[in-house]
Amino acid sequence: MKKINHTKILGFPSELSQVILNLLANSQDALLSNNIKKPYINIIIEENRKHIYLSIEDNAGGIKEEIIDKIFDIYFTTKPKKRGNRTRTLYVKTNY
Ligand SMILES: Nc1ncnc2c1ncn2[C@@H]1O[C@H](COP(=O)(O)OP(=O)(O)OP(=O)(O)O)[C@@H](O)[C@H]1O
Ligand SMILES: [Mg+2]
Repeated sequence: MKKINHTKILGFPSELSQVILNLLANSQDALLSNNIKKPYINIIIEENRKHIYLSIEDNAGGIKEEIIDKIFDIYFTTKPKKRGNRTRTLYVKTNY
């Protein structure tokens, strides 16, 4: 697999943006709530002959193992309810 800086894919730009923004919001929430001193979020695009892979990684410590099976449950959250928007994970699940 090769890292790339630019690429073109077919799809709906607004829906892909939604997915990316939701993942960035998750990273931001985790970085802030875990009080990470030197926070980073990396957006990585890689390709092989068949597929393009978009990864978003942060240094907030990762998703806790005990909740990993629940993250695609639409009503699951570990955060206070006030700003949750449950369309988010559904987007990630149905489209990607
Ligand atoms: N980058 C991350 N680092 C650490 N934990 C994460 C990260 N992304 C998600 N999580 C954990 O997974 C849970 C589920 O994430 P999800 O986006 O489905 O819901 P949410 O962020 O809690 O609520 P909403 O997206 O509706 O605002 C989060 O509550 C958080 O505990
Ligand atoms: Mg979220």
